[in-house]
Amino acid sequence: MKLTWSDVTPEAAYLSRRAFIAAGIAAVATPALGLGGKPSAFSTDEKPNSLQEITNYNNFYEFGTGKTDPAQNSGSLKTSPWSVQIDGLVDRPGSYGVEDLVPEAALEERIYRLRCVEAWSMVIPWLGVPLSGVLDKAGVQSGAKFVAFETLHDPEQMPGQRSRIIDWPYREGLRLDEAMHPLTILATGLYGRVLPNQNGAPIRLVVPWKYGFKSIKSIVRITLTDKQPPTSWQMLQPSEYGFYANVNPQVDHPRWSQATERRIGSGLFGGRQDTLMFNGYGEQVAGLYTGMDLAKNY
Ligand code: MTE
Repeated sequence: MKLTWSDVTPEAAYLSRRAFIAAGIAAVATPALGLGGKPSAFSTDEKPNSLQEITNYNNFYEFGTGKTDPAQNSGSLKTSPWSVQIDGLVDRPGSYGVEDLVPEAALEERIYRLRCVEAWSMVIPWLGVPLSGVLDKAGVQSGAKFVAFETLHDPEQMPGQRSRIIDWPYREGLRLDEAMHPLTILATGLYGRVLPNQNGAPIRLVVPWKYGFKSIKSIVRITLTDKQPPTSWQMLQPSEYGFYANVNPQVDHPRWSQATERRIGSGLFGGRQDTLMFNGYGEQVAGLYTGMDLAKNY
């Protein structure tokens, strides 16, 4: 059996906490989740990034645009109680508590690569559940074709929302078959512990074959719809960011190449590595896009 982070979490957490203290960085004081989650066949066996890297190099514009801003500024976010409104084309619309949507006993560990559109990458041991099961709870109606997601909009708690870089709230969307794919999860934890605020607490999407911006954080609303929903980055710059945003080394961003990526933590001599089609998940997801022109549908 493959060793997973669930097997080593207590020690890893202890060592990371020591590293934080040694580095003088505020420790992520999220509680350990007793159980590390069931190991998953979908996990990569690549070495995960350290907790310190994962929690101190973030994109979360609600807390600032710098990579260390989210770690410094997200303490003000109150993540409990938290509920997610599920509405639109569902049989049971309503406000669902996170603990009901994602019960601790159902958590699975998924060690996934995360490839940001900015051409850096990490490996993150998430704890979560397939989004499909959550949507099944709400009862998806036959007319639904897309799923839209929204982050909390509250400039009091999210100081970055006082500037208008994005038309808040942050919005994302998936086609229904992408949302139902077994690789697509809602995560509430990482490294065997509750999700740190800077990583999108208390509940965020993770879609590992797409650029990281699709993996929307701190979700308060999920809407089933028959129309392709507007998404934040596409609204901001449609010539640079598309709805699909599948990782694709052959389709460059207009301002930089997507052929290679910098793995965070690879060190001075780490260099760059090749970016893989669908971030290496092609075997599982290529079938979703049969017959589509992926240069047009970027
Ligand atoms: N979600 C919200 N609400 N706001 C954001 O700014 N940034 C996205 C995505 N989700 C973002 C977001 C981007 S660009 C990336 S690469 C990932 O979150 C980063 O996730 P991480 O910080 O947990 O590694």
